[in-house]
Amino acid sequence: VNTDSSIGIFDSGIGGLTVVKELFSLLPGERIVYFGDTARVPYGSKSVETVRRYASEDTELLLLHHPKLIVVACNTVSAVALDVVQELAGSIPVIGMIEPACKEALRVSASGRIGIIGTDATIASKAYEIELQNEAERSGKKIETFANACPLFVPLAEEGWEEKVVAELVAREYLFSLEEAQVDTLILGCTHYPVLTKVIQAVMGPQVKLINSGAIAAREIKNYSVLSTQYSSLDKHLFLVSDIPRKFQSIGERFLGQTLQQTKQVIYEDAWVM
Ligand code: DGL
Repeated sequence: VNTDSSIGIFDSGIGGLTVVKELFSLLPGERIVYFGDTARVPYGSKSVETVRRYASEDTELLLLHHPKLIVVACNTVSAVALDVVQELAGSIPVIGMIEPACKEALRVSASGRIGIIGTDATIASKAYEIELQNEAERSGKKIETFANACPLFVPLAEEGWEEKVVAELVAREYLFSLEEAQVDTLILGCTHYPVLTKVIQAVMGPQVKLINSGAIAAREIKNYSVLSTQYSSLDKHLFLVSDIPRKFQSIGERFLGQTLQQTKQVIYEDAWVM
């Protein structure tokens, strides 16, 4: 690991900034190169083939910046294309969202009844369930998993409607089956869901432990990054998007919880044009 270089992180769009927020708070000295594929978002409603192709192009872009580590902030990519990223990254470590969240869910769940919510593509892939069952087997635990796709959570979070009645109605509808299943732990398997933590917790009840996959992954990333140079100011970072940055800038500041420096646009025409 080249300690001097930056942490590369990518997402289908804005949502990955909830993961950047966790990295800023746990690893304030690191330099971040972020790419949000805002021209092609959402990934969560697209086919596995398409998401895998996008993931490979996104990884190529980050590799141009020689990161010491690649973080796949997008749960959809983590679910259906982590191997694509790993293959391209070669010896550069790749951190996805799924493994750390599953380990944490198994650690905190007392009853072994674990819920997972994510995009359509993430839930259809069963990536979380498979990982949870594998981990459970390894540790000799008995678990039962319950999954539900919550696609409307993404636009609600982007719209800034997390405190409105509509968010509660949508959450009740989506989470009903998980409540019924009496899960004691719920994995927030999508970049946008931490924005809706309050309403999800209110609907599920205070006894249910919510796992923020980005925050848990950030803890794992901390183990990898050995800093030799301190980057302290926000403008040391680089934020790249594939659509014009206007919307990314305004929504992004809400997701990140702080002002976002100038974001640059990059365009894919057979290769990345900066
Ligand atoms: N970033 C995606 C995820 O975490 C959500 C948005 C999308 O569908 O692209 O799954």
